[in-house]
Amino acid sequence: MKADLIIYNIGQLVTSRELEEFSGTAMENIEILENAYVAIKDGRILNLGTEDFPKDLISLSTKLIDAEQKVLAPGLIDSHTHLVHAGTRENEFVDKIKGVPYLEILKRGGGILSTVEATKKASIDELVEKAKKSLNLMLSFGVTTVESKSGYGLSLESEIKQLMVNRVLNTSQPIEIVSTFMGAHATPDWYKGKTSEYVEEVIKMLPSIKTKGLAEFCDIFCEEGVFSIEESKKILAEAKKLGFKIKIHADEIVSMKGAELGAELGTISAEHLMGISKEGIKELKKKNVIANLLPGTSFNLGKKYAPAREMIEEGVQVALSTDYNPGSCPTENLQLIMQIAATNLKMTPKEIFKAVTINGAKALGREKISGSIEIGKKADMVIFDAKNIDYILYHFGINHTDSVYINGTLVYKKK
Ligand code: NIG
Ligand code: FE
Repeated sequence: MKADLIIYNIGQLVTSRELEEFSGTAMENIEILENAYVAIKDGRILNLGTEDFPKDLISLSTKLIDAEQKVLAPGLIDSHTHLVHAGTRENEFVDKIKGVPYLEILKRGGGILSTVEATKKASIDELVEKAKKSLNLMLSFGVTTVESKSGYGLSLESEIKQLMVNRVLNTSQPIEIVSTFMGAHATPDWYKGKTSEYVEEVIKMLPSIKTKGLAEFCDIFCEEGVFSIEESKKILAEAKKLGFKIKIHADEIVSMKGAELGAELGTISAEHLMGISKEGIKELKKKNVIANLLPGTSFNLGKKYAPAREMIEEGVQVALSTDYNPGSCPTENLQLIMQIAATNLKMTPKEIFKAVTINGAKALGREKISGSIEIGKKADMVIFDAKNIDYILYHFGINHTDSVYINGTLVYKKK
């Protein structure tokens, strides 16, 4: 078969294929090929290898691109974001600098609830426009798949509006959007002091979200003063019964055995985990739950970091995401998150690349179609203007992207 596109002379090709034999931790088992090529046909990976590409892959219409010894990696996967919302919250940021705790701001009716107010007032078109700006930025950082949670609606109508935005985005810009229902993000003002009644309300929303096919996942903010272990269990168990895949924001600010609950219920991933217990780490490993770490949130809130090394040594598979949202982590820059993971989570470059490629795909149930450069997979790829992956983490605070391909099509090129 002839290729549509061949990218050759790649200095390091991060395939993110998981190797059986390797040295280092189980998070370092990804393949990196030197002096490599990748061939694409009909938006899929046709072939890859080292040295010269086989000449029989070329026809008159094959496009050839010289990577000039740069790094080529699978398109990055941002598997945890609160992409769709209106407004910004820089006023709270200043309060936080002055020492007001994040949960205190929420208790006062600010935080998530102020974004709920703004989002309620916005039209679908306005939400789409704002989200598209963020997606364009994400794309420029090499991101090709983004998970997007609702949770700034908190009523059926407004949650549906947010999820409809995900649907529109999926057909009006190149990044693949994975949709998550997170009606249990906070108790809205109109249920103040009646969280258990709001929990029932969320449970009532589930069938309608499911029948409309608006979300693949269901997530919850399991946190002291937000949703308790029992409340989280109730909602997630019901969601699972209805056929949602489930996720949990666990042990983010206060340790409350959220990770253990995720493992017990069979969540695909548990997110944040700054306060995870030793037992929680063991449970994640036992039940094969991905630990989705969001160190940008620790950085921005000035909080402690998740014990990534302990998790990795225990054999837990780790993903990394931005948590992009207007409160605890207002950044679209996954490369910055990777750099924070290097310096603060002490993750190695290989572990970090695995976390934002194949493990990000696993956290979204996409590991059979994306997250690695393997024959038959989606040709989602990013070329970095760097000679090796170490350099990308070392030279921090800049954008290393040279170009981005989704389904084999060039969708971003550095000017
Ligand atoms: O993941 N933890 C809950 N949700 C977000 C923050 C949302 C917000 O502050 O608007 C998070 O950190
Ligand atoms: Fe989050």
